[in-house]
Parts: sequence; structure tokens; C-alpha cells
Amino acid sequence: MTSTVAAPRHRPAETVEQSQPSAASGQTKQSLLFALPKGRLAQDSLSFLEQAGLSIPTDTESRKLILPAADGSIGFVMAKPRDVPTYVEHGAADLGICGLDVVRETDRAVYEPLLLPFGHCRLSVAGPAGAPGVSHAESLDAADIDADPASSAQVPGTPLRYMSQPRIATEYPRLTRQFFDERGVNAEIIALGGSVELGPILGLADLIVDVVQTGTTLRMNGLVEIRSILESQAVLVVNRASYQLKATEINRIIERMRLLTA
Ligand code: PRP
Repeated sequence: MTSTVAAPRHRPAETVEQSQPSAASGQTKQSLLFALPKGRLAQDSLSFLEQAGLSIPTDTESRKLILPAADGSIGFVMAKPRDVPTYVEHGAADLGICGLDVVRETDRAVYEPLLLPFGHCRLSVAGPAGAPGVSHAESLDAADIDADPASSAQVPGTPLRYMSQPRIATEYPRLTRQFFDERGVNAEIIALGGSVELGPILGLADLIVDVVQTGTTLRMNGLVEIRSILESQAVLVVNRASYQLKATEINRIIERMRLLTA
């Protein structure tokens, strides 16, 4: 588990004043505002916070946008997962939970003090079984993009590295571009907002890059995993100014969480 505060990447240092949370948290009675992801990480996030001894909202299905903890100590925002790092970077929320995949894709300047023990999945390249570059169903290696041409010549199909311009449907255009660029593959990235498995099925794309958790979605749509490009799990993200200005409260939360990740 990560136990140190990861420095934000690729961003010039801002002053504390620039990114200090004020708007949202200033309008609430709570001293801390916590952004949680809606969807598949929501319940695990709430359960984890409760196990860590934090007071959580009693009615998370409410249409209210800011939900107070049962004891009024913290405010919670249930946000689209992709928006969590944005809220936290800009100081609209002091802390947040989201997937590492989302943090890497959005590339926001936030601290990442702790990986959390849930939400494990991977971001993978996948494609239709039998398609060029997908020559060995269930194998992550046989048609690997990094495959040695000599060894990939042993398996039927065209190694991905030789596809001239594969079209890749994905919700992760930044990570996908980076992955293929690093391997000298001139991929055409087709950014979609969800259900990217439809890309190859409808002929929009040759391959996809998407989250794989159980593998059920791929299997049910006739796709096979070719290569994992990022291992992901839930991560705590913290606004940089809050981390200094509310150090006592935030460190208390981090330490409680850390006890559950040991
Ligand atoms: C994610 C992902 C896959 C699916 C993978 O979709 O995009 O479709 O989960 O999970 P599995 O390996 O357990 O089948 P999600 O349900 O989050 O919705 P989305 O398609 O809108 O991203």
C-alpha cells in the first residue's frame, strides 16, 4: 500500500491561496467536504469510511447535492467518478475517493496519500476474438503489443505492433494515446463516454481500452483481453492547500484509513 504523499505531477506549484477550498465548504456547516464517486465504487467507499470510524450520511439516495454526515462533522458530495479529481484539485472538495485509473487519466494536481483496499480492476486493451492482433483468446501475451516479432510470428494473426493504424475506442483517451505512442503504434483514438465494447461490435473500432474487473462484460460481448496497461484500485485524493490548512483533521482521517489498509 502507498503510505507516502505522492507529489502532484506535471503542474507548477500553486500558492496555498490559489487552490484553497472556500466556495463549497464555505457554504456548508462542515469543516471538511469529501467527494465520493457515484456508481460501482460508491457503496465500498461508504463502507470503508464507516469502518474507518467516520460518520457517513444516513440517506445517500437523497437528491440533495451535499449530504451531511450523520453527526454533522463532514459534508459529502456524491459526484461522477471522473469529476472527483477535478473537485479536489480546484478545492471545491477537500478530499475525495476515486479510481487510480481516473486519477491517471484526468492528470489532476492532487495529493494521493493512500491506496485503498477496494475497487481493484485493470485498464486493458481488448478486441474481438480472432481479429488481427487478437490471435490467442484468453492470452495476455501471445498477441502482446510488446511481443518480440520472432515469437509473435509463431502465433496466427497480425501482431498489434504491425497494425498500421488501429482504431481504439475508449473512455481513457489520454492513457490510451500514451500507451500506443510509447510503442510507436499510430493508433486512432475514438473517445466514447461509456459502453465502449460497442466499438468493435458496430465496426467503429478495431480494439478497445477499457476497465476490466471480472471480465464478464468482455466475455458477454465476444471480446478478449490482450494486454493490461494499468492496474487500478481506489485511492484517496486530497487538495493540496487543504492538506496544509486542515492538516490535523485530514491526517486524523488518513491515519484511521491507514489502519484498515495495513
Ligand atoms: C465498466 C467498464 C466495463 C465493465 C467491466 O463499465 O467500462 O464495461 O465495467 O466490468 P467487468 O469486467 O466486471 O464486466 P461500467 O459499468 O462502470 O459502465 P460504463 O460502461 O458506462 O463505463
